[in-house]
Amino acid sequence: MNDRYGRNIDYLRISVTDRCNLRCRYCMPDGITLVSMKDILTYEEIELACRAAARAGISKLKITGGEPLVRFGCAELVGRLKKIPGIQQVTMTTNGVLLQQYLPRLLENGLDAVNISLDTLQPKRYQWITGKPELSSVLEAVRQAAAGLRVKINCVLLKGINDGEWQKFAEWTRQMPIDVRFIEMMPIGHGKDYGPVYNETLLENLKIQYPDLEKDDQIHGNGPAVYYKIKGAPGSIGFISAMHGKFCGSCNRLRLTSQGRLKPCLCYGEDIDLMQILRGGEEGALLEQRLEDAFCRAVSLKPRNHQFEVPDGVTEKKQMVQIGG
Ligand code: GTP
Ligand code: 5AD
Ligand code: SF4
Repeated sequence: MNDRYGRNIDYLRISVTDRCNLRCRYCMPDGITLVSMKDILTYEEIELACRAAARAGISKLKITGGEPLVRFGCAELVGRLKKIPGIQQVTMTTNGVLLQQYLPRLLENGLDAVNISLDTLQPKRYQWITGKPELSSVLEAVRQAAAGLRVKINCVLLKGINDGEWQKFAEWTRQMPIDVRFIEMMPIGHGKDYGPVYNETLLENLKIQYPDLEKDDQIHGNGPAVYYKIKGAPGSIGFISAMHGKFCGSCNRLRLTSQGRLKPCLCYGEDIDLMQILRGGEEGALLEQRLEDAFCRAVSLKPRNHQFEVPDGVTEKKQMVQIGG
């Protein structure tokens, strides 16, 4: 379905939980206030919402969190969503800690691709950033997942902390058929405490180091990343330039939080309360129509762009972990 700026909105990001088994410094260093399970959309409600989304033109779903795999039954949810008419792709973004455990079930349920968040390849630094000693387990998960799925690594560089590791990440794409994406830190929640490492500078450094770096115009996913490739490498290097390169002109997405808020844009607090519709007492065709209308309204409310760079431009008060990135 097209929004008022002519953008085709066909991608829904669904946060199934705001809980997480890591404590990344820029995300939820002190944890979050726990929300009772009764205030979280059930899988049945998520499925109903996705059926309505599909009728409104959504064809690609991304399961996110917090950490989606900490919610019991998440792999089976993938299977349920895959069966919805009109849904072509269900993918997931995870921190990878529980991925080895759930990979067989995710594959059985038809997961199409996985993004794994990994900001450093050094064990001590991993523990410093995430609060947990899980690096080796995540690296093993990457290896196992890459054997059966399209894998992308999400790497957020923090100034003066892990920003010297870009070359090691780039080298990884020469060794394995995985994509590494560098994400510019956004001033959402604790992200405000860290200065961004600009992808433009990073790309300049990469071009110096790898003069044969070439633009890769193949489609790697549904998100805003722009890709390059070191000539002959099996994997690619992606840039999600959330701050510097505004990619809002090609925005294709809505977000659904675990508490049932349907968000037209990451930057602003405005949302539609889908939970209220789902639990408002209506059933059957009437409920289905109300949900579909809500998706159409969310599309119509999409703003032209974010204002991350403007002081007080971010009106979203939720943390990234509550939105699902
Ligand atoms: P695929 O390309 O299909 O893998 O999707 P993706 O890149 O959207 O997925 P992922 O969940 O891995 O998101 C990667 C990063 O992109 C996260 O940090 C998101 O917050 C960021 N991101 C995704 N969508 C948007 C958006 O609309 N605006 C901004 N500013 N950032 C976004
Ligand atoms: N800015 C940019 N990326 C962020 N992520 C979490 N918080 C931020 C932020 N403030 C990333 C995670 C994960 C993805 C879903 O979002 O590292 O890879
Ligand atoms: Fe968890 Fe991702 Fe937040 Fe880290 S960035 S604490 S892995 S939700």
